Amino acid sequence: MQTTQRDMPAFSNSRQYRDFAVRHLANGVSSTPRTAQLPVPVAMDHARGVVLTDVDGNDYIDYTMGYGPLILGHNPPEVVAALKAEIDKGFRTASVHPGEGRLAELIAETVPCGEISSFVSTGTEAVQLALRIARAATGRTRIIKFRANYHGWFDSVHIANAPGNDGPSSGGQDPKAVENITVVDWGDAAAFAAAISSDYAAVILEAAAINAGCFAPPEGFLESVRDLTSRHGVVLIFDEVITGYRLALGGAQEMFGVVPDLTVLGKAIGAGMPVSAVTGNRAVMEALVNGSVMHRGTFNGNPLSVSAAIACVESLQRGAAEIYPRMNAHAAAIQAHINAEAAALDLDVCANQVGSAIQIFTGVRQMARIGDLAGADRGKIVKLTEKLLLNGLMPLPRGLMYLSAAHTDADIEKTMHALSKGLHAYAAV
Ligand SMILES: Cc1ncc(COP(=O)(O)O)c(C=O)c1O
Repeated sequence: MQTTQRDMPAFSNSRQYRDFAVRHLANGVSSTPRTAQLPVPVAMDHARGVVLTDVDGNDYIDYTMGYGPLILGHNPPEVVAALKAEIDKGFRTASVHPGEGRLAELIAETVPCGEISSFVSTGTEAVQLALRIARAATGRTRIIKFRANYHGWFDSVHIANAPGNDGPSSGGQDPKAVENITVVDWGDAAAFAAAISSDYAAVILEAAAINAGCFAPPEGFLESVRDLTSRHGVVLIFDEVITGYRLALGGAQEMFGVVPDLTVLGKAIGAGMPVSAVTGNRAVMEALVNGSVMHRGTFNGNPLSVSAAIACVESLQRGAAEIYPRMNAHAAAIQAHINAEAAALDLDVCANQVGSAIQIFTGVRQMARIGDLAGADRGKIVKLTEKLLLNGLMPLPRGLMYLSAAHTDADIEKTMHALSKGLHAYAAV
């Protein structure tokens, strides 16, 4: 890390920026979790590959990767070239254009359930569209969601995100908006079997619970959810906003071999541009195709985002055999290193990993089940990620780390040293 001629990195320009921004920008950020970063929400100036450089000139090996989307790094040449070519053709916002059909074709080639697709800009919107399609397809209203699974910030699903709180996750939410949602423990096949019935329109879940803390599905859980939803005529929705194009080319459904009816895609599909999708089998998507579901949005399928997504998915498709094993191996090595160092230092720290995502926990030495989350210390993790940041690594403040195809073996080696130094510094607090 560049330290501007001091032992510790300087953050004076980030602090100065924060003081300026809060005058007219709420909290000085555009998404609440970004305020959590210590020692200060770091303002970024530019990025190359996997290296972020802040406004004070400090470099970090990035493990936020845009909170997930930057699966190919910050400026993959094929995506940058596609964007430049598209800009030259004029914006054509809200027009019908050939890219949309091509992207839908690529999804059909890569995502197991992805026969028919429809595009929006964000994962939050795509979840709403998927729920609407499921309700229209079944003529039912009720939905099952799982504790500590996140499906965006809209009132209809923004509940039961944190352990111990099954209610709304934000002030100002309409309590009535979730009247038709039943909350069940993720990974608990018996609890799910007791809850499911033919009253439900849909079951929505993160097939691998990344937001909760990078939990792989317990043996048989997804199979049981698939079986029971089919038997009750309930639409099974995998929210693959994080896992799509990240865990494998075909996402969690490819990795775990269970195919849902509908899938929500976001983040990685666009390589950093805002594009999300609902994709699914023809029978369920028919509710959208036949016009019974209204799907609107000025920016849906905008040519710039779609061109980035085409370049990204084509690149992942070409390189899949090499990219996914490498990213997953890098993530597994980082997880093993954190656990080994924590044990050597006798720290209450541990890490989980699924595919190319890692979650660090503080306050616990093991996090085997999602039910153990209440034992983790959510205050200390921000302190630990501060120590990592001070040693040149940039994880999410809450301890989540994303790999990308752009991280090299040399980056991982540097990361191991920085992790060791950061954990030693944390141990000394
Ligand atoms: C699993 C999951 N679903 C949906 C969303 C919402 O996506 P967006 O932030 O693009 O609205 C997120 C965002 O982190 C997510 O992790």
